[in-house]
Amino acid sequence: MTTIGIIGAGEVGAAVAKAVISLGYKVVIANSRGPETLTALVGELGPSARAATAAEAAKAGDFAVIAVPLKLTNNMPVDELAGKIVLDTNNYMIWRDGNYPIVDSGEKTIYELRQEHLPTSKVVQAFTHIQAPRLGTIARPAGAPDRIAVPISSNYPEAVAFVADLFDRLGFDTVDNSPLVSAVPCPPCAVEA
Ligand SMILES: NC(=O)c1ccc[n+]([C@@H]2O[C@H](COP(=O)([O-])OP(=O)(O)OC[C@H]3O[C@@H](n4cnc5c(N)ncnc54)[C@H](OP(=O)(O)O)[C@@H]3O)[C@@H](O)[C@H]2O)c1
Repeated sequence: MTTIGIIGAGEVGAAVAKAVISLGYKVVIANSRGPETLTALVGELGPSARAATAAEAAKAGDFAVIAVPLKLTNNMPVDELAGKIVLDTNNYMIWRDGNYPIVDSGEKTIYELRQEHLPTSKVVQAFTHIQAPRLGTIARPAGAPDRIAVPISSNYPEAVAFVADLFDRLGFDTVDNSPLVSAVPCPPCAVEA
């Protein structure tokens, strides 16, 4: 059975965990305060979930999701994520993150910065244009007229294909907006359904 390491157990981390567990995955989920603070969430997610540190979640995952706002100083477990596909849900919110001059100047996208932080991983922008509580409610089967498409982006085509397949099973089409230099965070966010 495939295990997904989820770093970040807030709105997005919890919603992604719930969605992937419904597809049959196991998840190992982490926050910044420690696994003992995740008892309620893990209880809600059920036996396919366990809490761990970020490094343990990264190590346990066949692939990983980072649902943590980007910091300019790398705070992710680089070694444990090495060689893995890493889905980055990060958006750039100046009110929350402050100003990143390197991003504001157009020199780098936030996803290129994440890829630089994780040089031995294959970073994919994903889940950025879906409001977390709607992940389950706006999912639709393939071919449904009201199924929506969400952007994904990576410097690695095989990682794009892998994540597109995951989204298909979650109930979404995808638009490949690769490479990461072209990746656009939300807002502007197209998904208001
Ligand atoms: N909310 C949405 O609907 C939505 C949709 C698309 C994209 N996004 C983007 O996705 C990212 C996450 O958003 P969110 O709404 O889920 O944020 P959130 O609710 O504030 O949750 C952030 C999570 O990250 C954890 N965290 C912070 N630093 C960490 C670290 N160094 N190691 C491990 N865990 C750490 C926090 O743990 P503690 O609580 O223990 O500090 C918390 O569980 C953001 O960039 C956001 O803009 C959000």
